[in-house]
Amino acid sequence: MAMIKIAMIGASVTFAGISVWWFLGKPRIFQASDYGQQANTSEQFDEKRDVDSKADGFEYTPKPKSALKRAQAKTTAAAAVKNQDEEKEKQERRAIISRQANTLEKFYEKGDVDSKADGLEYTPKPKSALKRAQAKTTAAAVKNQDEEKEKQERRAIISGQANTSEKFYEKGDVDSKADGFEYTPKPKSALKRAQKLEKLKEAKKTAQAKNQDKEKEKQERRAKKIEEARRIKISEDKTLPTAKVIKIKDSTEHRERRVKIQGWVHHLRREGKKLLFIQLRDGTGYLQCVLTNLLSSTYEAITLTTESSVTLFGKVMELPPGSHHKAPGDHELIVDYWELICGAPSGGTYYILDKKSNVDFQLDNRHIVIRGTNTSKNLKAASLVTQLIREHHLDRGYMEVHPPCIVQTKTESSLFDSNKIGSSLFELQYYGKKAYLTQSSQLYLESVIAALGDVFCIQKSFRAGKFRTSYHLSEFTHIEAEFPFITFKNLLEKIEDLVVSVCDRITNPNNPLGQLVFEINPDFRTPRRPFKRMSYTEVIQYLKDNNIKKINGTFYTLEDDIPESAERTMINKINEPILVCRFPKGVKPFYTKKCSDDPQLTESVDLLMPGVGEILGASMRIDNYDELIKAFIEKEIEPSTYYWYSDQRKFGSCAHGGYGLGLERFLMWILNLDQICDACLYPRILDRYKP
Ligand code: 4AD
Repeated sequence: MAMIKIAMIGASVTFAGISVWWFLGKPRIFQASDYGQQANTSEQFDEKRDVDSKADGFEYTPKPKSALKRAQAKTTAAAAVKNQDEEKEKQERRAIISRQANTLEKFYEKGDVDSKADGLEYTPKPKSALKRAQAKTTAAAVKNQDEEKEKQERRAIISGQANTSEKFYEKGDVDSKADGFEYTPKPKSALKRAQKLEKLKEAKKTAQAKNQDKEKEKQERRAKKIEEARRIKISEDKTLPTAKVIKIKDSTEHRERRVKIQGWVHHLRREGKKLLFIQLRDGTGYLQCVLTNLLSSTYEAITLTTESSVTLFGKVMELPPGSHHKAPGDHELIVDYWELICGAPSGGTYYILDKKSNVDFQLDNRHIVIRGTNTSKNLKAASLVTQLIREHHLDRGYMEVHPPCIVQTKTESSLFDSNKIGSSLFELQYYGKKAYLTQSSQLYLESVIAALGDVFCIQKSFRAGKFRTSYHLSEFTHIEAEFPFITFKNLLEKIEDLVVSVCDRITNPNNPLGQLVFEINPDFRTPRRPFKRMSYTEVIQYLKDNNIKKINGTFYTLEDDIPESAERTMINKINEPILVCRFPKGVKPFYTKKCSDDPQLTESVDLLMPGVGEILGASMRIDNYDELIKAFIEKEIEPSTYYWYSDQRKFGSCAHGGYGLGLERFLMWILNLDQICDACLYPRILDRYKP
């Protein structure tokens, strides 16, 4: 402000100076016109007694002392002009000072001294205490602002600390203001941290470089090893006894003898360069095989992968007593020569066989999955159970037959389609004509009893119902049997006989494969006869008593076809096999015989098993011709299509009945499986028919 004042004063002085120079110093040339005007001006250029030296009326030599006077006059004029300028300047300053409130400039402040008492010139008060205080406050405010900004930045960083690799505070740093934001680093910690970070970065770089080098080295070593291995050749020692071709299951009886076994590498374990263990699988079992020295050093040996097929020669030896390692059958094959038949992609089956992999992926790769220990066990168990079922029927003197799978009679859909979920028949073209895949071989079996007596078949049945459950397949293995000259009571006994006899065969200690079932389901037991029996009416009552309702919230009645899910809830609660008997005629197919004591009910039965539900359906069949034709008509079936079926009732009819057991559901119960697909080789379910 003082500077501004000085500048203004300077400007005023300069202005005044210029004015004086104009009037006093600037050379003047007077002209006639100027002179002629003199009378009207305050200036006098000639005076009385001045001499008109050139006698031209223009130039006068001043009379003595008039020069002084003139000078005086001139001085007066200049002073007047100066005063005018000063006044102008004063007015301008006044104007500025009066505007002071609206400008940023300060021309005076409270405490300044109006030195000339003219309201224009103020001497600033000597560095007033107030100003100092104000300046201090301003400086403090600026500092606070800066600090707050810095705090906010630190806050942002600290709150983001978790997501950054940098550390802004560490354990041991002091939260100096106890605000969670400002940490005084523990002595040297900031520096240390930076150094540590730098070191870590360096170490990482070094490790990466080292790894790369190592990898390269590894590859080079491997290439060298492979090169060396390629040069190693092995051959069979012809001086050794001729090897006998055996299956793994026959190993025990061939101990100490030289054998030849072919199979697949199930597991592989290398111990150093000179020892290779192969767990061989040939479908009949697993055998540990030991390859040493050159045998484990060839190119084929060092590149061998699981699932490769191989031929091994050697002696089957019992494991030494007290041996620290275990091997199936307590023996191993000490290999003296071997050949690779066909390799397999390295690690190729591991991720497929991984239990955690997606179900669809596993089903798509079932051809590989079935090689796994668990799945192959299930398949072996299925084979065993099928075999025992066949054994049971054959032992009872029933004759096995093979009815056709391709059928002409479309009306079968209404015979077995009690589920009402879409069409239950698969249609196909048979030499340009419509044909269907069979849903049950029952009608054909009925036609055979007069020729072969008790008959059975193990045949595929097909159901096109759009079920997506753990219990339904589109193609399943159906074990069906048909018996002439029996009663409903006989039929129930035959069903119990079938189940108990097959279970007893499984648990029979003489059955070498029986152990397999216990490996899968250690809780497996043969159920006790007689099985619990419940009439359909009793089931309806049970469902009501146990608050098991229909989807619409109402209770089941005799008119309802109880769904499998409700039956399953009941059987799981009761937890023992149940023969549900005497279904209403409305829920059973046209051929089902009516009960003699109540024609609304039928001589029919379903066998329910805990955990699975229905595994078997059976009934006595209508044996009277007229009654059968009436049943066809009631179900709107054209009887002529079934001439071969109704003829049975014309040509020496008899009371007869039979059952149909679903193999996969039976296996679900025996093996305690949750999914029907696990009981099946290549499951056909809704939307899936590969592989
Ligand atoms: O109860 P169902 O439909 O009975 C018949 O087919 C009769 N003709 C059998 C006869 O008396 N000869 O089927 C019999 C059994 C069922 O209890 C069940 O175990 C199985 O066949 N089954 C199925 N299994 C898997 N998936 C499906 N979609 C099945 N449908 C029936």
